[in-house]
Amino acid sequence: MSGAAARMPAASITTVPVPLGDRAYDIFVGRDLLHEAGARIAALGARAAAIVTDAHVGPLYAETLAQSLKQQGLRAAIVTVPAGEATKSYASLETVCDAVLEAKIERGDLVVALGGGVVGDLAGFAAAVVRRGVRFVQVPTTLLSQVDSSVGGKTGINSRHGKNLVGAFHQPSLVLADTALLDTLPLREMRAGYAEVVKYGLIDDAAFFAWCEKNWQGVFAGGPERDEAVAQSCRAKAAVVVRDEREDGDRALLNLGHTFGHALERITRYESARLVHGEGVAIGLCLAFRFSASLGLCPEADAARVEAHLAATGLPTRLAQVSGGCGTVDELLDAMAQDKKVKGGALTFILARGIGKSFIAPGIAVDSVRAFLEKEINASRP
Ligand code: GLY
Repeated sequence: MSGAAARMPAASITTVPVPLGDRAYDIFVGRDLLHEAGARIAALGARAAAIVTDAHVGPLYAETLAQSLKQQGLRAAIVTVPAGEATKSYASLETVCDAVLEAKIERGDLVVALGGGVVGDLAGFAAAVVRRGVRFVQVPTTLLSQVDSSVGGKTGINSRHGKNLVGAFHQPSLVLADTALLDTLPLREMRAGYAEVVKYGLIDDAAFFAWCEKNWQGVFAGGPERDEAVAQSCRAKAAVVVRDEREDGDRALLNLGHTFGHALERITRYESARLVHGEGVAIGLCLAFRFSASLGLCPEADAARVEAHLAATGLPTRLAQVSGGCGTVDELLDAMAQDKKVKGGALTFILARGIGKSFIAPGIAVDSVRAFLEKEINASRP
């Protein structure tokens, strides 16, 4: 679906509140929000905005957004950074901070992040530190960023010591998730974001997982199911963030599938040709459920159902599907040990007692992980 025929009336815009006291904000989800972004952003009361975008997204949407802001009487500058994970760097942070200052963004003005997770994390962090903090708005343009990274206030850049190790919690003042922008998203990126959608069902909402099994094709095709999936994901994430903004407890549930997934990303050296984050998460979700089943915590049938659904959408579900190989068991364990979710030498996993019944499991013995991974790797051998 694309073009005017696909446009839905303004009434179909869903508002998801994130009630965080003096940092509360709304997430708006719906088609064609970009065209009315100026009015919604102007309602925040700023006089100027610096739109931070990347070289892929900027040419498609930055001018539309800038015009929409100007029509509301806001000054708008566009700051374009290179596309790709390498942009989450100290050098890009300096570039963006200086550009925001050159655009004369004062306290009370705004940084607007227009792009995927890289732009959102970088622009959000720049907003957190420029003039000791200015407000920012997220306009996420990928499914992954609409359902995960634009919500919850984690911002930051990568260091040579690892990903996302330098950053700040800085909540946006507004999130505009225009689901029509996903019409042109490559299928691989759509799938990768969808792994995070499924994750919310697996964490604590079996009914949403069942809904995903039934409606995923509509999500991919851009029907009303897509808006529902994005809105429900944002509701689920907002509920966790409101309970535990700074990840002292429950927010770790959002890492379901990520301990294995991050290890695979490390092993594939973050080369997107081999594996993108959401693909690592898809394999990680399956591993988390099969590991839970192997520990006798979760019915095998639930693990099989998770795998069947992710595979149906075209996502990878097995270690053998990692392009160029998933490494040895020792390499996988080493990669997990470097993950920031490792405390005192023990591995913390998010495990499950079934679909929608995930829980934080600290102190998982490395030996049991090793035995499980050996079984998984051997099962993958022809
Ligand atoms: N993406 C995980 C979190 O925001 O906590």
